[in-house]
Amino acid sequence: MRIDILTVVPSLLESPFSASIMQRAKDKGHVEIFIHNIRDYATNKHKNVDDYQYGGGAGMVMSVEPIAACMDRLKNERTYDEIIYMTPDGKILEQSDCNQLSLHGNLIILCGHYKGVDERIRQHYVTREISIGSYVLSGGELAAAVLVDAIVRLIPGVLNDETSALTDSFQDGLLSPPVYTRPEEFRGWRVPEILLSGDPKKIEQWREEEALKRTRERRPDLLD
Ligand code: 6GU
Repeated sequence: MRIDILTVVPSLLESPFSASIMQRAKDKGHVEIFIHNIRDYATNKHKNVDDYQYGGGAGMVMSVEPIAACMDRLKNERTYDEIIYMTPDGKILEQSDCNQLSLHGNLIILCGHYKGVDERIRQHYVTREISIGSYVLSGGELAAAVLVDAIVRLIPGVLNDETSALTDSFQDGLLSPPVYTRPEEFRGWRVPEILLSGDPKKIEQWREEEALKRTRERRPDLLD
């Protein structure tokens, strides 16, 4: 998979992809991530990437030209499956969206800033608009990092244990059951006996019950 991210703050996207699972996914050749500074495509004297909005009102709007120039260049080089715009008024991201996006070859992700981008970019380039939740971030960069992380870990071969993405919370529509590791007892707090029983059928049944209980308590909406 190839992911091209367009931003006016490239430094915000340096570290999220340079550690842990994301770095390993890049090293193993599962994903290439390219960060493009929209300012490099500004042609005016002061390299402005934003301007006042028509009709008046507070806040700047990201200009159409530099974003279009960057996207045109990328689209001339290869075809893209989706051009995603990160915006608080987009569709709220869910696991099913990530599953679907992880199957794609090439993605462009545009990070919004200020009051957002000129509507013509949304009309003529963007194929999908995504929000990561009902709160406002200063820009789309951290949201893009969340999206890329959620997608890349689903690419086959990225996780060591292939089954571990399949047993994630949400992947089967349920939250995950509690987990424990050594020691068996800490300050008198014991690991549930059933997990020490060595009976795989009983353990599996316990985990299913706990997952269901946790989902009912915390996220009943997932059971509807
Ligand atoms: Cl994608 N962008 C911004 N600026 N804020 C957000 C968001 C995106 N998703 C949730 N809040």
